[in-house]
Amino acid sequence: MRPGKCVVRSRPPVGGPRPQALEVLFDPAVLRAGPQMIDAEGLTKTFGDLTAVDRVSLRVREGEVFGLLGPNGAGKTTTVRMLTSLISKSSGSATVAGCEVGNARDELRLRRQIGILPENVGLYEAASAYQNLEYFGRLQGLDAATLRGNIERLLRMMELWEKRDLPVGSYSKGMKQKVAIARALVHDPVLLFLDEPTANLDPEAAKTVRDFILELKRERRTIFLNTHHLDEAERICDRVGILRTRLLRVGSPEQLRAELWGNRTLVRFASVSEPLQAALRDRLAPRHLEWQGRTLLVEVRDAERENPEIAEAVLAAGGKLTELSALAPSLEDVYLKLIHEKEPGA
Ligand SMILES: Nc1ncnc2c1ncn2[C@@H]1O[C@H](COP(=O)(O)OP(=O)(O)O)[C@@H](O)[C@H]1O
Ligand SMILES: [Mg+2]
Repeated sequence: MRPGKCVVRSRPPVGGPRPQALEVLFDPAVLRAGPQMIDAEGLTKTFGDLTAVDRVSLRVREGEVFGLLGPNGAGKTTTVRMLTSLISKSSGSATVAGCEVGNARDELRLRRQIGILPENVGLYEAASAYQNLEYFGRLQGLDAATLRGNIERLLRMMELWEKRDLPVGSYSKGMKQKVAIARALVHDPVLLFLDEPTANLDPEAAKTVRDFILELKRERRTIFLNTHHLDEAERICDRVGILRTRLLRVGSPEQLRAELWGNRTLVRFASVSEPLQAALRDRLAPRHLEWQGRTLLVEVRDAERENPEIAEAVLAAGGKLTELSALAPSLEDVYLKLIHEKEPGA
C-alpha cells in the first residue's frame, strides 16, 4: 500500500455510535467540502458496436448518497462495474476512493476500500448470517477480532443479532437483502456501491431494505446507488444523475425539479374580483400568473423565499386566502421529460 494516497476516514466505524453534531455533518456546505470519493471523466464502455456508457463524467463527495437513475439498459450496471474495476473501461479515467481505476497497482487497495452489492447476490443459504459475513470478511483479509466486532455491529444494526445462527435460507427476502448489503460492508469500506438493491423485492421487503440504507446514510456513509425507482432516488439520494447511455443531468432532486420545470405556488381564495386580480398582477409582477376560478397558480423560482412574499402581497391586495401551498413537480415528471427527449447525439 502506498502511503499518502489513502482516503482519510472521518466517519464512525460500521454500525458504530452516531456522530452527535448531525446537523453540522449534514450542512450542505460541509458535504461540499468533503474529499472526492469518485471522480470520473469521460468514462466510456463499448461492447462491439454497442456503446453502453458514453463519456460519463461525475463526482461524488465523501458522505454523499448519489443515485444513478435510468431505465433498463441505460448503462447503470456497466458504469458501476467500470468504477469498481470489475470490467475494464474502453476510455476515460476514474479515481475511486483515492485509487486509479484500471491501474493494476491500485487494484487490491480499491477492493479493500469499496463494498459492492451486485445485481444478483449469492448468499450461502444453508449457512447462517454470521457465517456468511465471516466467510466474506475473511476473504477481505480481516483479522479475527476486527471481523467479529464488525459482524456484531452490523447484525445488531440490522436487528438480526438474535437470529445470527439461523440459516439465511429461513430469512425473509428483505432480511436476506440486508445480509447481502452487510456482506458488502463487512470490511468497513469507505464507499458502498448498491446496484438496484430493492429490485425484485415485494413492497414490504423493499421498505426494510430502504430503511436500512437510510440508516447507513445517517452514518454518513458514501453510497453510490443504482436504481430505476424514482421515489427511492428521491427519498434516499442527496444528488441524482439521470443516465441514458449518456449522463443527461446531475443535481439534487429539488434542483432538477426547479431547473427543468419551475415550481408553482397555489393560492386559493374565498372569493375573487377584477380589482383583486389587477392588484395581484401588479404586486406579483413579473411572475407568471394563471387563474383557475378561485385558484391562482404563481410561478416561483424559490418557493421557500417567495411564498411569504406572495402571502403578504395577497393580504395587501385585500385578498382573503383559504390555502397557500407549494406545488412541486415530482422527480418522476422531470425524469420522464428527460428520458423522452430526443435520443442523445441524434
Ligand atoms: N457484457 C456485455 N456484453 C454486451 N453487451 C452488454 C454487456 N453488458 C451490458 N451490455 C449492454 O449494455 C447496455 C447497458 O446495460 P446495463 O449496464 O446492464 O444497463 P442497466 O444496468 O442500466 O440496466 C445494454 O444494452 C446491455 O445489453
Ligand atoms: Mg443494471
